[in-house]
Amino acid sequence: MSTPLRLSTEALDPGDEAAALHAEAVSNLFRDLQILLPPDTLIRRDEPLAKRTTLRVGGPADLLVEPGSDAGLALVLETARLRGLPVTVIGRGSNLLIRDGGVRGVVVSLGHAHFSRVEVHGDRITAGAGARLKSIAHEARRAGLTGLEFFEGIPGALGGALRMNAGAMGAWTFDAVESLRYMSRSGTVSERPASEIPVEYRACPLLRTHIALGAVLKATPADAETIRTRMDQFSRKRWESQPSEPSAGCTFKNPLPAVPAGRLIDELGLKGTRIGDAMVSPVHANFFVNLGGATAKDVLTLIEVVRTRARDARGLELETEVEILGEDA
Ligand code: EPU
Repeated sequence: MSTPLRLSTEALDPGDEAAALHAEAVSNLFRDLQILLPPDTLIRRDEPLAKRTTLRVGGPADLLVEPGSDAGLALVLETARLRGLPVTVIGRGSNLLIRDGGVRGVVVSLGHAHFSRVEVHGDRITAGAGARLKSIAHEARRAGLTGLEFFEGIPGALGGALRMNAGAMGAWTFDAVESLRYMSRSGTVSERPASEIPVEYRACPLLRTHIALGAVLKATPADAETIRTRMDQFSRKRWESQPSEPSAGCTFKNPLPAVPAGRLIDELGLKGTRIGDAMVSPVHANFFVNLGGATAKDVLTLIEVVRTRARDARGLELETEVEILGEDA
């Protein structure tokens, strides 16, 4: 007697079914993008993201795409929307903590040369969102312009610095912005003067929903010696006060202007606290360093340990400055 046929409908539980549908949507989107985008566009499946962050932890992206034009970026947004998959934009990953399970949907990196241009016109610098802050600082120095030296010490790209209004050495990114170019999630490009864009300590709310494409930065002519001295001063201060091991920069925002998070964590005696290979830096207590084999879970646990101590000992709520993306393993 032949074995009765098993019906496939009883085989899948709802979780498996959702995973199968998700995998199918990812495959379809991968194929769509290969057809729609120019052949030299970088499109990868299951791309490890740890190496694209300075902290070097976290799992893969379902898809990683590096569009080569504004139109290419708009096409990625539109196609992902049609396939029902989320799009996450990353910069140089210097302020990112990616969870160990990685990021679902498409991760867009603005690493292509199109988004990394830096052009000097008189005392204005036009730079793309993918331009390294360090390159912008050096272009300004070469052109005899002061005001952007503080970028030298921030290891990210302009897009991330705009989105979080990154700061160092007493200056904020938006102090230096004349106008901002950005794209809506439906692909519309706009440009607005910075004076019309509200910004806060470590945030540009507009860029929570829109993607920074680039900015015109303002600077002031100065003699070469003045610029070099400022840059050297900032660079020396950074080397003395910040650790050299992989990290995501400052972990927490300062809870109050008069209470820097680094000093608070230091006063709580937490320097050197370690979970796995994640450690509160003995150099600067607001930097959590990866000693080599840290996982995102180690870093997240360390964040919770420090937050709990700050709450219990000082009644202060620490909010992460580091952006946390993705899902647990
Ligand atoms: N401090 C300690 N112990 C420490 C660290 C700091 O006592 O372990 C003290 C310092 O001595 C100083 C005060 O805390 O009196 C503030 O420290 P620091 O000058 O390093 O400035 P910060 O407030 O910790 C801010 C930005 C940094 C930026 C520096 C330098 C925030 C959260 N952080 O740090 O930004 O590099 O100023 O301009 O606003 C980042 O955004 O990732 C970042 C690192």
